Amino acid sequence: MAEVTGNAIEALDLVKHFDETVAVDHVSFAVPTGSVLGLLGPNGAGKTTTVRMMTTLTRPTSGTALVAGHDVVRDPAGVRRSMGLTGQSATVDELLTGRENLRLVGQLYGLDRRTVRRISDDLLERFSLADAGDRVVKTYSGGMRRRLDLAVSLVATPPVLFLDEPTTGLDPRSRVELWDVLRELVRDGTTLLLTTQYLEEADQLADNIVVVDHGRIIAEGTPLQLKDASGKAALVVTVSDGADLSRAAELMRRVVREVHVDEAARRLTAPAQGLGDITEVAGTFATSGIELDDLGLQRPSLDDVFLHLTGRRAEETTDDESDGGAGGSRLEGVPA
Ligand SMILES: Nc1ncnc2c1ncn2[C@@H]1O[C@H](COP(=O)(O)OP(=O)(O)O)[C@@H](O)[C@H]1O
Ligand SMILES: [Mg+2]
Repeated sequence: MAEVTGNAIEALDLVKHFDETVAVDHVSFAVPTGSVLGLLGPNGAGKTTTVRMMTTLTRPTSGTALVAGHDVVRDPAGVRRSMGLTGQSATVDELLTGRENLRLVGQLYGLDRRTVRRISDDLLERFSLADAGDRVVKTYSGGMRRRLDLAVSLVATPPVLFLDEPTTGLDPRSRVELWDVLRELVRDGTTLLLTTQYLEEADQLADNIVVVDHGRIIAEGTPLQLKDASGKAALVVTVSDGADLSRAAELMRRVVREVHVDEAARRLTAPAQGLGDITEVAGTFATSGIELDDLGLQRPSLDDVFLHLTGRRAEETTDDESDGGAGGSRLEGVPA
């Protein structure tokens, strides 16, 4: 038996070169059993290569990783027995039904017929595919396919699950549905490593986040720690339609000096020094009679974190972009 530690996954100084390209550059981290790690980074950061090394699909140039105590270099079979993987591209057979895909995988794992049937029914139910289970996958929507992909990787009930960009290309609703399924898995004890370009996704799902860029770890911590590191909270005031925006800005400047005015959004933003500022600003507007739609403190987003760390912005994707309209904030890589 492999040694069981408190970590279900450990990356130990992983390096991967492709000729001149250093895809992964001395990456180490640990994922405690039962927790979720978000490996966050823009396109080309080295996320897929890291996952491929940890799931024995490609050999590290140097360094190694442990999955459920098994070494990916010395005991790849042990690693494969302990994990499931859902890759970036679909692995299911389009010409088979959802149920047939699940059964096929169960048979490949050598499970007996009755177990396979029970697990397939259970997974179809759990992933809201029960009604579509006997339709060929070709007729499935993008969200249904992703859910089936995930279901297929769970047939062998692995304690450790790797998901490479599980929701890229999904519409917002399917994304939220998949998040719910993932939360359920984690509640049942699965250890999860997921890669994502979506700041919001890491924030929603991960206990810990490792931010990678150009193959290197540039930051790590809980979502809260990363946000704290990136700077102060901002005081944000939204001025009602009928009210005088420039007068509002002038009043706010008497309390907090640096006020940024967004005319289109009718929003005034200023770095907040503390609760005192909020109370004072609120009081100023109350006595001046200027009507506000909203007043509050805004914590920095993970977008701000990335900007702070790299000097690059995360871009807003729109619904008609090629990623299928996930509609969230996505990290933008620098062109090489
Ligand atoms: N098989 C390969 N051969 C050559 N270069 C590769 C290969 N796979 C990945 N790379 C390069 O390694 C870097 C990291 O890629 P990847 O791990 O796919 O990043 P991500 O998944 O974060 O988008 C990129 O520069 C990519 O072009
Ligand atoms: Mg990738």
